[in-house]
Amino acid sequence: MSIESVPFITLNRFENGFKENFLTGVEGLFDKTQFVGGPIVSELEKKLSEKSGAKYVIGCANGTDAIQLALRAVGVDKNDSVLVPDMTFWATFESVVNVGADPITVDVNRDTCHWDLETFKEAVDKFKPKAAIMVHLYGWASPDTMAIRSYAKENNVLLIEDGAQCFGTTVDGESILGTALISTTSFYPAKVLGASGDAGAVFTNDEGLANTVRTLGNHGRTSHYGHGLVGWNSRIGSYESLFLSHSLDHIDERLKSRKAAVNFYAENLKDLPLKVVTSSDNVEENGYCAVAMIDPDLRDALMESLKKANIGFGTIYPGAMSKQPAADKYLKNKIDNGNADYVSKAVINLPCFAYITTSELEYVVTKVKEHFNA
Ligand SMILES: Cc1ncc(COP(=O)(O)O)c(C=O)c1O
Repeated sequence: MSIESVPFITLNRFENGFKENFLTGVEGLFDKTQFVGGPIVSELEKKLSEKSGAKYVIGCANGTDAIQLALRAVGVDKNDSVLVPDMTFWATFESVVNVGADPITVDVNRDTCHWDLETFKEAVDKFKPKAAIMVHLYGWASPDTMAIRSYAKENNVLLIEDGAQCFGTTVDGESILGTALISTTSFYPAKVLGASGDAGAVFTNDEGLANTVRTLGNHGRTSHYGHGLVGWNSRIGSYESLFLSHSLDHIDERLKSRKAAVNFYAENLKDLPLKVVTSSDNVEENGYCAVAMIDPDLRDALMESLKKANIGFGTIYPGAMSKQPAADKYLKNKIDNGNADYVSKAVINLPCFAYITTSELEYVVTKVKEHFNA
């Protein structure tokens, strides 16, 4: 069958038997009326710990809550300054505001789209923040991740890592989520490890932080009706946990197919005005996103051609954080070298999802090439 369209993402490529196994599990939970908490949540947290290498994993309601739990757990409070990248998803910025702290946006490197050590150092020295949120975007990470961690530690900056997009990614051979002071992820269905609804998790090797996160996400409970902290309800549901637990059994195959898609684009879209960007040499990416850069003046025309060919695409993200309409009221300061702004105008994301077929990839490559050769 010839291909006539390729979606940007689709969530419906499951392994044989996945749906049946999940539904059988749902029936079991239903019959036991295990809707919140219970053994399925503990089983998921144990599997996540084994896979990520983090000693403690705490499931929660979503990836935004995970960041807020991490910020609160490390002690970020009202009026504390927190550095965030100027290129990220808005939830990173929002989380800082939601815990009462003040965000400072710090520009990214134009080539890696992530923080580099030099700009991070400049921000720490200039603003003396209490904390920083390093974001691992596109399923990659900054090549300077380890150096940024060290600099933060030396300068008493509490470093939270927003790993909503980097489940399975490694830097210098180390699992990001397994080695951070405290890191978070999102299980939004479109993530590499997606749930059947909203969910998230916090990862740490520090027992004290883990206990605080767990307490905060369960109404600050120290006993059923005893509240040692003011937290909120950010518990993970049991159906989501079951879905994630089954998904984890297939995560290696899913990541393999995503990474193969990214490599396919990189190998087959050379020598064009469009440059497929892959992660730096010391970063093993997870294939969350296929990222390409194009001269902003040429992007609209390419998007038109993709639309005509029924190929879905993304522009992740189309605007820097400091330029969002809601940012003004909360932005305490910024380092803006124009890079996040440039990336937001130059980036284009090609279709990438688990089990995308070779025919689909070939269709995309053919249409992109046709666009430039026409
Ligand atoms: C970088 C980043 N941070 C935070 C989030 C928030 O996660 P959630 O949508 O699960 O709240 C996302 C999800 O899209 C994300 O991509």
